[in-house]
Amino acid sequence: EEDKSLPQPVRIRLDETDPSVVRLREGDAPGTRVRVLGRVHRLRQQKDVIFLTLTDGYALTLTLETSLSIHGEMRVVPPQQRAPLDRELHADFFSIIGVAAGDKEAITTRVPKDADPQTLYDNRHLVLRGDTAASVLKVRAGALRAFRQTFQEERLLEVTPPCMVQTQVEGGSTLFSFDYYGQTAYLTQSSQLYLETCLPSLGDVFCVAPSFRAEKSLTRRHLSEYTHIEGELDFITFADLLEHLEKVICRVIELILQDPHMAALVRELNPGFKPPSRPFRRMKYADAIDWLVQHNIPNDDGQLHLFGDDIAEAAERKMTDILNVPIFLTHFPVEIKAFYMKKDDSDRRVTESVDVLMPGVGEIVGGSMRMENYDELMEAYKREGIGSEPYYWYTDQRKYGTSPHGGYGLGLERFLAWMCGRYTVRECCLYPRFTGRCTP
Ligand code: 4AD
Repeated sequence: EEDKSLPQPVRIRLDETDPSVVRLREGDAPGTRVRVLGRVHRLRQQKDVIFLTLTDGYALTLTLETSLSIHGEMRVVPPQQRAPLDRELHADFFSIIGVAAGDKEAITTRVPKDADPQTLYDNRHLVLRGDTAASVLKVRAGALRAFRQTFQEERLLEVTPPCMVQTQVEGGSTLFSFDYYGQTAYLTQSSQLYLETCLPSLGDVFCVAPSFRAEKSLTRRHLSEYTHIEGELDFITFADLLEHLEKVICRVIELILQDPHMAALVRELNPGFKPPSRPFRRMKYADAIDWLVQHNIPNDDGQLHLFGDDIAEAAERKMTDILNVPIFLTHFPVEIKAFYMKKDDSDRRVTESVDVLMPGVGEIVGGSMRMENYDELMEAYKREGIGSEPYYWYTDQRKYGTSPHGGYGLGLERFLAWMCGRYTVRECCLYPRFTGRCTP
């Protein structure tokens, strides 16, 4: 029974940035009477019964994740003792809101080391209540905020292109198709082509949108749906593009780490994380092939790499881990890159293209200059066996005031896997979608 003579409690949020927590009085002096709503997160536990010990020594049986309301005074913890936020609640009243299931259905605090990954993915909605998953998602929110601020500083305008499309961008093999009122449509692989159409009227643009890839194989860095951060810049050179990329990546990291709460999360998730220093190391594709041969790192068929080979995930990661710095890998051969990429004027075998590689993950960004010449683009459709008709709106950009322009796409989950030191991109999104999984 609540003592009605006590002052009405003020609802507070246990949010580290909430100033109402800071306003509370120090020591044991009476402070404002507060009301805290939340769930039982961590407790002394015996079997599946949990003891929540209140400071008056009164013990109560509860299950983990039970939601409740507690009224009382928030005080600073006595010296030598430690608590989150350095606060403890001297409770005078509580009420249970929702009891969490116990016994066999009880939620456990720690994920067992031998937990079956599929079971964990099935229970992602509960895994999200754990500290690690929640921390990654908080950093994700901080990263999105930082990207938007950085783009504003760099004067890129945000646009929101459609996800249902009728053109491919990165090759037919990873297209998801569906029936669209009797026509074939696809889930977008990249918003790049749409961003290009915005340049004449809106200037430099960016978008944060899902991209979809029907990847056939399970790897630790491929999702079927991922959050794609794409930028497109008008009237630039390839050198400008690289410089912009370096600036954006470094500024985003600076902004994330400027927030003490974010910095603490990153430190906990990835204690060894060091912000990269500029300039990033530049390496041409041809030199990477030589480097791989010299270091005896074979391609996926176990053969030594030859000019023209795709550098597969394993080899790329090995190289990045050995060099252990961010790398701009540039000038990929025409044959292994998308149809729209501009050729290098000084070596027509290669394109003005770049992959940004980070230690631990490998490629986190893909970008390039775009073909600006009409005839060359028509030729490229032919070379790739793509019918030019559905691309009329893209081709038109070369007909009405073409320009040297370029852009890039960054996979947010890969960026986070790198920054938060996660083994796989699947840990870096809310509900991962990958080969065979669309639940929950
Ligand atoms: O290199 P990609 O395929 O480039 C493009 O889509 C360009 N059209 C982007 C542009 O220039 N606007 O993909 C760009 C990035 C990759 O570097 C990677 O970080 C991420 O998107 N990515 C994936 N992330 C998770 N799962 C997948 N299956 C991914 N495929 C690409």
